[in-house]
Order: sequence, then structure tokens, then C-alpha cells
Amino acid sequence: MDKRIEDMFQRRAVITAGGGEKRVEKQHASGKLTARERIELLYDKGSFVETDAFVKHHCHNFGMEKVQAPGEGVVTGYGTVDGRLVYCFSQDFTVIGGSLGEMHSKKICKVLDMAMKAGAPVVGFNDSGGARIQEGVGALSGYGNIFYRNTKASGLVPQISAIMGPCAGGATYSPALTDFIFMVRRTSNMFITGPAVIKTVTGEDVDTETLGGAQTHNSVSGVAHMACDNDQECIAQIRTLLSYLPSNNLDDAPTLPTNDPITRRCENLNEIMPDSAHKAYDMKAVIKSVVDDGTFFEIQPLYAPNMITGFAHINGESVGILANQPRVMAGCLDINASDKAGRFISICDSYNIPLLNFVDVPGFLPGTAQEYGGIIRHGAKMLYAYSDATVPKVTVVLRKAYGGAYIAMCAKELGADIVYAWPMGEIAVMGPEGAANIIFKKDIESADNKTDMRTKKIEEYKAEFSNPYQAAAVGFIDDVIEPAETRQRVAEAFMMLNTKSEARPKKKHGNFPV
Ligand code: HXC
Repeated sequence: MDKRIEDMFQRRAVITAGGGEKRVEKQHASGKLTARERIELLYDKGSFVETDAFVKHHCHNFGMEKVQAPGEGVVTGYGTVDGRLVYCFSQDFTVIGGSLGEMHSKKICKVLDMAMKAGAPVVGFNDSGGARIQEGVGALSGYGNIFYRNTKASGLVPQISAIMGPCAGGATYSPALTDFIFMVRRTSNMFITGPAVIKTVTGEDVDTETLGGAQTHNSVSGVAHMACDNDQECIAQIRTLLSYLPSNNLDDAPTLPTNDPITRRCENLNEIMPDSAHKAYDMKAVIKSVVDDGTFFEIQPLYAPNMITGFAHINGESVGILANQPRVMAGCLDINASDKAGRFISICDSYNIPLLNFVDVPGFLPGTAQEYGGIIRHGAKMLYAYSDATVPKVTVVLRKAYGGAYIAMCAKELGADIVYAWPMGEIAVMGPEGAANIIFKKDIESADNKTDMRTKKIEEYKAEFSNPYQAAAVGFIDDVIEPAETRQRVAEAFMMLNTKSEARPKKKHGNFPV
């Protein structure tokens, strides 16, 4: 063989070996896959094409001129996932701790630029000690260049971040600018300042996992969307998520053929509603009954569980589902639920995924914590995102739809194309008890038997407003439907809306409430 070809193979073998056997062993011993093993699992077999393998750093500070960094600590390239083009970067912790220097960042930027040009999603595997300390401002600039591209790509191509090791300081802001963040339990963490700095500044004692582990960011902070048990599960979940998303903002999501007929009746839904409005039922059972083959891919299942968000298929087409969960806080809207919903609606609209909303909401959660926390500006995110969304929007009112929360769950006024209600729908300014106390206050106070009068007035109010027919009489509800026919009616609505197009006045961009 020509020596130059042999030389090329030798050089490539060094790069492919990453930080070498010992560091790879350490990586495995800590429960993590290597950068290349992660890529292998993400892509269809043999489809990965590497870019910039021969890139080198040119740092001469602190003896760095003697440090070899195979691949510059990050593997980049593209390949196919279920036959569709996807770009990827995978930080290699075995090479200088996956730390990010100028050339490392340039490799990532190139992938982001190519993804924007080709209109294909980007998956980033983050496993890095952060800014490469020896490179100083060059490393900081590298992050800045990535943030800029993450933002440019936002709403153009789906961006998915997997946190599979440390991700600290400003480095966390690249994932935060992407559409979805996956984390792996026990091996990943994200924080702006670590436990040691926190101890010095605030005196608090906190360990890494409690501060910024997968459970914390999935259930407390809402920074992450999915918590997985290991790298393998995380990558399998990312592949599933990609199957619901189009490649870019001009494409439609792939269809998933099904043998589940849209005419399938959901008899269980005729029985699911408890006899008392104070009793809960599982909204997820409703969702699973309605969607194709009972398959629902929930997003952020651990955060604000009073609001359910996720993807499914109906008649083979991808839909984004939002639903109140009566089992948690009676399905109230609060700050966290509003943030979760607002972001999800915006992602679906960016990528042409129709929205299906199931409503059973008693209102916004009362309390000083909510008011001081800014429920007004947080709740506004839902109103804004639904009003701003031009994708097909179908809403089904199952039971309670009270006050501002009724509007916030995508009522007709926010541009819902079709609104159906079950016969149990109660569409009113507030619940019958609260309403009767206010509007019949004088009658109740002047009655000999206040309790009897109160009960009588509550029943009067219920008869008048605790049904969907007042709203249907003025066209706020398009039809009152039998629960068992929900799947068929929703599927037909989306078929009818398939060619929907909604133009808006030209402007630079709106001001999303934050
Ligand atoms: C240079 C780094 C590095 C870094 C790790 N290494 N982080 N080199 N710059 N940021 C090197 C280590 O020196 C070591 O090299 C190898 O990577 C593996 O690291 P270990 O410490 O042996 O691994 P471990 O014990 O698992 O600890 C991992 C770690 C720790 C927790 C990430 O390395 C650490 O605290 N690193 C510094 C983290 C940090 O403060 N980064 C800056 C964040 S701020 P050898 O040769 O010994 O194997 C930031 C600003 C971004 O990123 C701003 C954007 C605007």
C-alpha cells in the first residue's frame, strides 16, 4: 500500500482511539459510553460520516503545545436516523475532559451551520469539563459562537441536547437554547456554579446530584425534559423523539402508518367521568384511548404534572398534545404548568405539528406564592403561544373549563379551529359553588336556612351554566360529542384542517412574555 495511504490510516486510528484505553476504561467504569459509542447507537448502522477528524488545537499556553488532543475532544458529523439526515456532535470526555477550546467549538459550529443549510436536526451529546481553561478567552468566544448558532437554528431545525456527563457554568446555555434536553441519572449534571462555589458564597451544603442531577432538573427546575437511566436508554428515547419531528420548519413530520382505524370507538370514555365534579380521573387514559395504538410519548413527565405535554400520532400524523391532569392539583394552571405548556406549544408550532388540547381545568392556582412568582406573566405565555400558533388547533372540553384558564387552554378566541365538548362540559366564569356565593350572596344571607338556600342556588347555577350548551348556543363550542366518538371526531377535524393556512401581518417578531 502507498505509504501516504498507510499514514492516513494510522493518523485516523490515533484519532478514533480518543484519550486511549485507560481513559476509555475510566469512562466505562463511571457508567458512561464513549463519544463514538454514543454516535454508533444514535445512527442507522454504518451511516455516520465524520467531519473534521483531523482538526487540532493551536494553543501554546501552559505546555499545551505538547498535549495531543485526538479529534480536539469532540466527534462531529452526520448520518441517518430511521433513514433521515441528522447532524451530531459528541464531546469526548477522554480527551482533556471534553473541554471546549477554540477549534473544538469550530467543529461544533460547522455542524450547526451545515444542519441549518441542509434543514436537518442536530443532536448534541454533552460530556465536558467546560471551557478549556488553558485557552482562556478563545474558549469563551467558542461558546459565544455556539450560542449564536443555537439561536439562529432555533425554529429552523430541531435541536436536541443530551447531557451525559458534566455540563457546568456558561456551557449549560447551549443546551438551554435548544428545543429538548435529555439527562442521564447519576452520570450527568448541569449547574451554573458547583457545590464548592455555592458553599463559599452562600454557605449551603449540596452535593452535585442534588444540585444539578437529572432528577433535579426534570422535577424541580424544569430545565430538562427527560430523565433516563443510562446512555443507551437516553439515545433510544432521542431516536423516538426524532420520529415525531419534521427535519425542519418547512417540512411535515413523518407519518406513521397504522392499522388502528379512526372510526374506532372509545367506549371506555363514556364511563370514565366520575359522578362528582370533585373526583379525579386519569387524563392519560383519555389520551391513550384517543391516539393511534395507545402510544403516547410524554415530554417532561416529571415537571408540573398537572399539565401533560407530549407527542402521539392520530391517523398516522404527528400531533402535540396538551392536557390538564385532574389527578394533580385538580388540573389547575400554575406558574410551572404555564411555562411547560407555553414552551411546548411554541415548539410544536415552529415545526408544523398540529395541537390537540384536552381541557378539564378549574382555574389558575390561587395564592401569594403564585402571584409573587409572577403567574400573570407566566400564564401570559400560554395565551401568547396558543394565539401565535398557526398550526391546526383542536380543543376538546371534557369537564371543567372555568374562567381565564378556559381561554388559556386554547378556546375558540385564541384561534382554536375546532372546539368540541363532552356532555359533561362545564364552561363558566367559575365553579358553581364560588359563583353562587357571589351572585346569590343576598339571597343566601337573608334566608332562614342559609345552607339549604346555598345548595338550591348552586343547583340553579349548575342547571344554567354547568353544561356545554350555553357555549354551544353561541358557537364557542362547535359541537357536543359523545365521549366514545372522540377519536373519530378529532381525527376527522385534523383531516379537514390538513390544508389550513393562516396568514399574519408581517412584523419582525412578537414579544413573547418571559
Ligand atoms: C482543561 C480540563 C477541564 C477544563 C477537565 N479537564 N476540565 N482541562 N479545562 N475545563 C481535564 C482534567 O485536567 C483531566 O486531565 C481530564 O480533563 C479529566 O478530568 P478529571 O478532573 O480527572 O475528571 P473528573 O474527576 O471526572 O472531574 C471532572 C470535572 C473536573 C468535574 C469536570 O475536571 C472539573 O471540575 N473541571 C473543571 C470544570 C470547570 O470549572 N470548568 C469551567 C466551567 S465555566 P488529565 O490530563 O489529568 O486527564 C465554563 C465557562 C463557559 O465553562 C462560559 C461560556 C460563556
